[in-house]
Amino acid sequence: MLRRLLGQVRRLVKTHSFRLASLYFVVFAVSVLGVLVFVYWTSADFVERQTQATLDAEIAGLAEQYAQRGISGLVQIVAARSAGDRGDGMLYLVTDADGHPLAGNITGWPEGTPVAAGPVAFNVQIKVKGVTQTRPAQGALIVIPDGYRLLVARDISDAALYRERIKMTLLWSGLVALVVGLIGGAVMSRNLLRRVEQVNRTAERVMGGNLSDRVPLRGSRDEFDQLAANLNNMLDQIERLMTGMREVSDNIAHDLRTPLARLRARLELSLIKAPEDGAQTEAVRAAIDEADRLLATFNALLNIAEAESGARRSAAEPLDLAQTARAAAELYEPVAEEKGCALKLDVEPGIMIRGDRHLLSQAVANLLDNALKYGGGEVLLSAHQQDGRAALEVSDTGPGIPEEEREAVFDRFVRLEPSRSTPGNGLGLSLVRAVARLHNGTVALGDNRPGLRVRLEFAAL
Ligand SMILES: Nc1ncnc2c1ncn2[C@@H]1O[C@H](COP(=O)(O)OP(=O)(O)OP(=O)(O)O)[C@@H](O)[C@H]1O
Ligand SMILES: [Mg+2]
Repeated sequence: MLRRLLGQVRRLVKTHSFRLASLYFVVFAVSVLGVLVFVYWTSADFVERQTQATLDAEIAGLAEQYAQRGISGLVQIVAARSAGDRGDGMLYLVTDADGHPLAGNITGWPEGTPVAAGPVAFNVQIKVKGVTQTRPAQGALIVIPDGYRLLVARDISDAALYRERIKMTLLWSGLVALVVGLIGGAVMSRNLLRRVEQVNRTAERVMGGNLSDRVPLRGSRDEFDQLAANLNNMLDQIERLMTGMREVSDNIAHDLRTPLARLRARLELSLIKAPEDGAQTEAVRAAIDEADRLLATFNALLNIAEAESGARRSAAEPLDLAQTARAAAELYEPVAEEKGCALKLDVEPGIMIRGDRHLLSQAVANLLDNALKYGGGEVLLSAHQQDGRAALEVSDTGPGIPEEEREAVFDRFVRLEPSRSTPGNGLGLSLVRAVARLHNGTVALGDNRPGLRVRLEFAAL
């Protein structure tokens, strides 16, 4: 279970779409992070500036008071501003040279604050609604001539709170954006994968012989749809070409069959009229044999065309595959004997399927013909029924067919190198496959160690 999951993950990681989605996610995460940091930085900076501006304005006002009215004026104004809670968080303290407070709303000099002029940051105790609280403050210390000191500061706890709130908001929205990005990436890569998979599966089915299969379109007119449409057009074209080619050879077979039969009849007639002896008679006999071979080829081609077109589907009837097998074996018994081969039968009685008697007999005959012609040794014809499937097997102990040729031999006119010297057209297995397909069955070539094993499978009745 875990291993399967790991395998799936490993396969996913290797896919292009997963890498694309990961890249998208990283870019997305980096840009979201960038935007968040920028927003935080600008808003924090804004708050800082605002605090500083208020402080500067306050200090400028007090300096003006001091310039006009001296230290007593400054003390007065500080005392006035410190009175009551104005709610703006401003903090003041004026002390003399020894640090004794003269006025202000901070009771004593904040601990740890340097006495030198300049910016200061400290914690201050403030009474809010009767409760004393420690708050952060930030401001400036000004040393006035004669040793007086003025501390102007602002309670920055609100600003800190605001900053904290911005930080949390940004953090959460960043987190949400990342999760959404992650889900988006996963969905995107899954969608992408699924569509690639569809194209792959269709290609596999087409290569498996189902030339009329097409990639499903979504109607979204995106690149994938265009790719699928182009592939489908290409398949249409190939199918048209292949059907055209097949039709030409089928038509030739069809159109030449009648004149050829007529020619053969004439030759036979001339044989009757001619004297019994002579070289001429021999030549006419040879011509008749030649015509017979041609007619057989044409018939084989037309049989295949008929099976492939499904025109004989109406000829299907319930039949006993065991009987068909036995009849074919009987037919080939003399051939086997002549070749010195042992033709064995292992047929379970009563295997009912729905099929075309004539075509099925022809297919079994073709397999036996091949086994005796190319295989030899021990030829076994077996037929069994199991789990609702009817299976018929023909095996021999000859040289067999190498694995890489097992698909090609089903094509028309394909003959392997070692068999070129024996008579034949390379149409036998083509018919076998066409018949299997016509019956919604399968045909598979396997290794008999040594030899070839051909297995036909149909749905049993
Ligand atoms: N039992 C077998 N053992 C070894 N090779 C085989 C066997 N059956 C078929 N072949 C190879 O597959 C090729 C195609 O077989 P197929 O039956 O289609 O054509 P053929 O036997 O050459 O001609 P035809 O059947 O039309 O007379 C053969 O030429 C042969 O090379
Ligand atoms: Mg053959």
